[in-house]
Amino acid sequence: GKGIAVFTSGGDSQGMNAAVRAVVRMGIYLGCKVYFIREGYQGMVDGGEHIIEANWSSVSSIIHKGGTIIGSARCQDFRERQGRLKAAKNLVDKGITNLVVIGGDGSLTGADLFRQEWSSLLEELVKNKEITPEQKEKYRILQIAGLVGSIDNDFCGTDMTIGTDSALHRIIEAIDAIVSTAYSHQRTFIMEVMGRHCGYLALVAALTGEADFVFIPEWPADSNWKDVLCKKLMQERTAGQRLNIIIVAEGAIDRNGEPITAEMIKKVVVDNLHQDTRITVLGHVQRGGRPSAFDRILGSRMGAEAVMALMEADEKTEPCVISLDGNQAVRVPLMQCVKQTKAVAQAMADKQWEKAVQLRGKS
Ligand code: F6P
Repeated sequence: GKGIAVFTSGGDSQGMNAAVRAVVRMGIYLGCKVYFIREGYQGMVDGGEHIIEANWSSVSSIIHKGGTIIGSARCQDFRERQGRLKAAKNLVDKGITNLVVIGGDGSLTGADLFRQEWSSLLEELVKNKEITPEQKEKYRILQIAGLVGSIDNDFCGTDMTIGTDSALHRIIEAIDAIVSTAYSHQRTFIMEVMGRHCGYLALVAALTGEADFVFIPEWPADSNWKDVLCKKLMQERTAGQRLNIIIVAEGAIDRNGEPITAEMIKKVVVDNLHQDTRITVLGHVQRGGRPSAFDRILGSRMGAEAVMALMEADEKTEPCVISLDGNQAVRVPLMQCVKQTKAVAQAMADKQWEKAVQLRGKS
């Protein structure tokens, strides 16, 4: 059977374990040898006990766990050719020619580069007498399937990334909790949520948590945002509401591209409305805890589909990302997704917010 390795890379997210489990079990079911690579690309570079064969029971009782049981890392060594050379040697030693990478766009781009370089890496290894010419021939093709694991939902090509739904559950639980104490004291709360340069978590949290105001990167605050905010908060209080909730994405900005922070918002509310105001930064709580049913299913479906894609791949097959399109698991060319995701980042950097939103939607 084929040798498949699965690893998680970059920031963790809930549902990654479900994906790992599905890869292992689908792989074994189809007669493959499946390996874990621990600690992401770092484990691939370091080899040894970081690359170990998985069996059916090594993924028992993990579907309900948050994080990733095989560890994740942001790896510097893999960015250097020397590191990738070591990684290639470690994979060939184990007969691994198929990779399932679970991570964000950086991790998926790294995998694609690795694949493009693969034959030249093997050549160098033969030259250094680290592998034999027979090994080079036998393992000459590296296949890659990517799964997008991130709470941010910032990847083009898929409707939902693995972890986003669970993070939202965590966020709205926190908003609900804050609402009760805010009500008692007639307070205003500003809650900062994650998402990097993407406002998805903040926007959906605001809608589902009945927030009064939201700041997101894709809809930068106008120069009169302070007046608009105060008017809205006053309106709600006049209508009888005892509290206000403001959600601010960690990447929120104004029209000049300058950050809008929770502290800035608090100052506006306190100075103008004299409301008793508190800030809650949710932080990594959002990335932790048990995955939702949605993320367990999403991870499971994506993992199984990744193995199928690898099994069906031939020499000409381009690497793919397993995406959710409506309710379907589909295969999308990896580089197309990465390219589009980068185009969104560029549009944001160029302050072309509408274009960014359009590009993100058109996946
Ligand atoms: O990409 C996931 C994410 O949680 C972002 O929302 C956040 O900006 C970042 O990672 C935090 O990174 P770190 O875990 O390295 O602090």
